[in-house]
Amino acid sequence: MKKFGQYIITKEIGEGGMGKVYRAWKVSEAGFKKLVAIKILKSSKHTELFINEAKISAKFDHENIVKTNNFGKIENSFFIEMEYVKGINLMEFLKKANEIPLDIFLFISEKILTATEYIHNFEGRRLIHRDINQKNILISWTGGVKLSDFGITLPQNDKIDPFGKLSYVPPEVISGNRWTQQGDIWSIGVVMWEMLTSQRLFSSPNPEEVKTKIIKGSIPPPSSINPIVTEHIDEVVMKALSRNPFMRYNSAEEMLNALKIACEKSSIPQIYQKDFAEFIQSCFSEKIREEEAEIAEEERKIPDLLIENQSGKISNEITEKITPTLNKTQKSNKTSEKSAKKEKTKKHVKRKIKTNIKELSLFFGIFLGFSTGILKSIYEIKKAQEFLKNGTKLISQNNISAGKELIKKSFEISGVKEIEFILRGLENVEQENQQAEKQKNFRKVQKR
Ligand SMILES: Nc1ncnc2c1ncn2[C@@H]1O[C@H](COP(=O)(O)OP(=O)(O)O)[C@@H](O)[C@H]1O
Ligand SMILES: [Mg+2]
Repeated sequence: MKKFGQYIITKEIGEGGMGKVYRAWKVSEAGFKKLVAIKILKSSKHTELFINEAKISAKFDHENIVKTNNFGKIENSFFIEMEYVKGINLMEFLKKANEIPLDIFLFISEKILTATEYIHNFEGRRLIHRDINQKNILISWTGGVKLSDFGITLPQNDKIDPFGKLSYVPPEVISGNRWTQQGDIWSIGVVMWEMLTSQRLFSSPNPEEVKTKIIKGSIPPPSSINPIVTEHIDEVVMKALSRNPFMRYNSAEEMLNALKIACEKSSIPQIYQKDFAEFIQSCFSEKIREEEAEIAEEERKIPDLLIENQSGKISNEITEKITPTLNKTQKSNKTSEKSAKKEKTKKHVKRKIKTNIKELSLFFGIFLGFSTGILKSIYEIKKAQEFLKNGTKLISQNNISAGKELIKKSFEISGVKEIEFILRGLENVEQENQQAEKQKNFRKVQKR
């Protein structure tokens, strides 16, 4: 578990080309907490694309597209906050389910095509996903199917023309032509072929071999591998896998209509989300139980940290008590222009300390919570808390240096490293006070 700005990161859940994805809790005032997924950019060479991903995906509003809620920079790392999809990606699903029934195939394909159609028509920008593959299709335990990872989603004629996972890249792009939306249709064709056959279509440890297979390798109709596949479904998938992009479907919508007709002709019924959810839940009952237990355990710990450690209380106690002290000093300096400037600096220091103390006490609370029973004994935590309490009391009495020492001790016991900024803040106040004191004495001497 690691604190990351407003988030508590609890688990790494995935890694792709651009970033690592984590499960995290967004925590806020009054014990507010929400489960989210956070993608953190791995290397600064992809910063521009990462920003593009955040901006584009934040605008998407579709039930079959993973929602992006926030973007920012914490501790020098860019991140994207997304809805956390409790579930698996399509690759994990196919591995476990082995052979999937055709109605399930239809359900998943329909959702992928609907999401792709939405992206292709989004704001008339001719966007192309460019990385539709098994890992970028998420399936929730409640039967939701969501397209994700817009790391290289760019308009058709963008200045750059990147591609994603090699095995899903269309042959014309491998041969050096630019992407068109028909490229995404090809990638969907590959995904559908793989769903029907439970095999990989173009795979090899050698990328050059993958490219050769894409350009001229054989593409057997899915029914030749899985006999339950009908010729009507074969036709749809094989059309999407035409090497000539002009021979593919004109749009994802057109392909979806063709698929629906093919399934009707093959007497494959359309199922509802709840049917799909039941199927998923039957395949992954153990994993679901494990994940639920993990999440419940995390959730149980987080209120411990934020509420029961009285982080709110501590922060209020400190800020409320420091504020009047600073106000007093400010009042005495109000008259001269010089003191007005000083006041400004003090206000700044005060504000900074307030935020720092708030952040710090939150972190402190969190840390104490995590360490309970893991790293520190209850005795030590109590001792640390006692030092912190007495330290803040001394600060409120304007005895900054003694208070600072106690707070320092408290952090030493708890092992919290991130204390420099608060100590620096306190040192500033201490210096300001000393200066004010000196001036007072100086004025006294002058009067005499
Ligand atoms: N919002 C999410 N909720 C749950 N799991 C996710 C989420 N986003 C991504 N993942 C997991 O992390 C993996 C990698 O994420 P992805 O966005 O594809 O990263 P990259 O851009 O690095 O490929 C996915 O395959 C999926 O298993
Ligand atoms: Mg990905």
